[in-house]
This record gives sequence, C-alpha cells and structure tokens, in this order.
Amino acid sequence: MTQDNGFAIAQERGITLGEIGHRIVEENDLTRVWEVRLEPGEELGFHIHYHPYYVVSLGGGANEIETIFGEKIATEEPLGHTTFINDPRAIHKLTNRSDQTYLSRLIEFKSVRWVYEDDPSNPVPEQPEGGGAPEGYEAAFKEILIHAATLPWSPKSLPGLSQKMLWRNEETGASIALIRFEKGVGIPNAHSHASNQFMFCLSGQYRYIPTGTTLVAGSFYCNPIGSVHGPTVADETTVFLEIYDGPHYPVQPPWYTNEEDAH
Ligand SMILES: [Fe+2]
Ligand SMILES: [Fe+2]
Repeated sequence: MTQDNGFAIAQERGITLGEIGHRIVEENDLTRVWEVRLEPGEELGFHIHYHPYYVVSLGGGANEIETIFGEKIATEEPLGHTTFINDPRAIHKLTNRSDQTYLSRLIEFKSVRWVYEDDPSNPVPEQPEGGGAPEGYEAAFKEILIHAATLPWSPKSLPGLSQKMLWRNEETGASIALIRFEKGVGIPNAHSHASNQFMFCLSGQYRYIPTGTTLVAGSFYCNPIGSVHGPTVADETTVFLEIYDGPHYPVQPPWYTNEEDAH
C-alpha cells in the first residue's frame, strides 16, 4: 500500500493504535472472530485492520467511522446486517452515535495480510548471512573510486610516455597507474626495478627487444624485484595497468629528466 494510511500523523499525535474489537470470541488458523460492543456515545479508539473482514451486526449500528485525517462516514448496520471489507482503509476509530448498544461480530480472514508501507511496526529486514557490516566498519571504511576515463593523460619526461596515476603509497613507494607508450616509444636501456613490477596490457603491442617477449591486450607480465629487462619498444600504441609493490627504481634512470617520473 503506497498511500498515506495515517501512521505518521498517529505518531506525531502520540496515538497508540488499539485493537480492532473488544475481545476475541474465537480464533483458528483461518479466521479470528472479535466482539465489538459500544454503548451509546462510546468510542472504539484508533486502529487499523491487517486482514479483510466481515462485520455481522447483532444490534444497534448507527455508528460513525472517523479516519485519522478527519473524514467521517456514517454507518447503518441494523441487526443481521453484514458488511464485507476487502480493501484496506486508513487508521480510523468507531463511535456509537445512537442511543442503543451496538454489538457485532467482526470476522478477520487471516490468510490475507495487508502490509502498509508507512507502518512503523513493519519488521526490519534481516541482514543476509555474513552481509552485515561489522561494528565500526562504517567509520573505518575509506573508499576510493576513480573513473579513469575522466582523468587526463599526464606526460612523463620520456617523450611519448604518459600516465594516469590511480593510487600511490608515499610511504612505501607502491603505486598503481595506467601507462601509455605511443607507437615506436620504449624504455631505451636495460634496467631492473627496486620492487616487484606487474603489468597487465589493456591494448596495443609492446616488446622486450633482447628476448622478443611481446605483450598484447590481455597479457599479464611481471618483473620480480631485481630482474633485468629491456630495452623495449611499443610496436603499437600500448596501454598498461602497471603496479609496483614498492619503489620503482634503485636510482633515478637516465631516460627521465624529471626525478618525479622515477616514482
Ligand atoms: Fe475498524
Ligand atoms: Fe622496467
């Protein structure tokens, strides 16, 4: 039920919803039978129904239904009158407006249960097993999200080489970056790294000249710390995801004029 059923107003006004009748006469798995008895002028306080129901009048019946929004509906239910309510209605109360006792049986059909979206008594959905956040998780959670496509390529001091730095740990020197070699560009010298270097080729073709080792889209390549490799050349413009788990070089390599580019 998406409409406003008056739960918020009830809360604002400090109204606690009551039962839909005065006593349960009989109950089984399918039905619950209530007695409603109102002396002249007496009121059955605000309540809401959770099941379709029949009302069978046993006498009286000139009542007034008043919704929590103030809408008033006069009822006429003489002895033997039956009313079937198959649609939920907003929170309401019932007042006997006649000078006779009103007595009825209200029979709820329990196999159908109405759920009101604005009902604060709705059960809170359980967290899926293992899916709940452990205590303190939110405070400790530091998320990083970069849409690399929106970052500009930043040229390095080796012409034809540029990068998009995604993450860097200044303490350890570890980093994750996208790097791009223009066609024909490469690292001009044999060298080794001061940490493990991992590369995943996203596009292009890139070759280690002395060994002929060639990386294409989808190639994963690793230079363990100290492994000597290069020179290299990009046979096509090539983009890598490049990861170092520590500092990139033991000393600043000669092909970078900017010391920053060796990090
Ligand atoms: Fe009612
Ligand atoms: Fe290298």
